[in-house]
Amino acid sequence: MGVLRIGHASLKVMDMAAAVKHYEEVLGMKTTMQDKAGNVYLKCWDEWDKYSIVLTPSDRAGLNHVAYKVEKDEDLDAIQARLTELGVESQVLPEGTLPATGRMLQFNMPSGHEMRLYAHKEFVGTAVGSTNPEPWPDDLKGAGAHWLDHLLLICPLDPASGVNKVAENAEFFKKVLDFYLVEQIMVGPEANIQAAAFMSVTNTPHDIAFVGGPTAGLHHVSFFLDSWHDVLKAADVMGKKKVRIDVAPTRHGITRGETIYFFDPSGNRNETFAGLGYLAQRDRPVTTWTEDQIGSGIFFHTGSLVPSFTDVYT
Ligand SMILES: [Fe+2]
Repeated sequence: MGVLRIGHASLKVMDMAAAVKHYEEVLGMKTTMQDKAGNVYLKCWDEWDKYSIVLTPSDRAGLNHVAYKVEKDEDLDAIQARLTELGVESQVLPEGTLPATGRMLQFNMPSGHEMRLYAHKEFVGTAVGSTNPEPWPDDLKGAGAHWLDHLLLICPLDPASGVNKVAENAEFFKKVLDFYLVEQIMVGPEANIQAAAFMSVTNTPHDIAFVGGPTAGLHHVSFFLDSWHDVLKAADVMGKKKVRIDVAPTRHGITRGETIYFFDPSGNRNETFAGLGYLAQRDRPVTTWTEDQIGSGIFFHTGSLVPSFTDVYT
């Protein structure tokens, strides 16, 4: 079947102790593993594979790679064949390149972001198990995020010189990885420039999103919460822990997500995102936001953009 869902994000952090404290105490993740190179692996309570976030020591913030899980090991070969057909370079990293993880297919998106696919990661189970599970575990910390939900990547967009890596990524994800377009922002005098694309491979409004900007980067890493009340509680946790909040709780027009944006201690933007929004389906008509309504698309209540939100990324 190909790509199942998001698997993990590998993030650069500048102060490992502060980063681990943040992802454990603010998001509510648990450290499941550390390796000799000093990388730390964490998972959310409602995830069953060994990790969904890798923190790697660095002198700057940003994304190393994002990985998605495929259903079967042979899917990696089928996808590699498609990449080769399109002239996209790829390589297979042997099992164990990342601990507790099978072989990985590594390639770059048209935007330059590194992507990896894998079929196997050590199964450890959710915090409540799979037999007669309770709805949540007793030792939840912080926001108690359920799972890593999606990433938003900034992709080079410069219509004057004909560069649009948002549109190229969207095509690539459709063609190679069988994602489908759920929502988009169209701009320009003829409204024919795709400035943002929200794409899914499951039934959530987005499993990955691309937004145009001057250079490639990571805009945010998002974690799922159940409800609007959980978003409020997450903001309370951030107030208590003096976390730098970027955008206080609000709702997106795009995806209908209930959201709060904040930064980890290195400056990587996080989001906690609540509510399914709607059930996305492959035959659902694509939702289009027009240039004059971008503000409402991003922040539905105020209808206006926050400069730090659009200009700051890692
Ligand atoms: Fe998001």
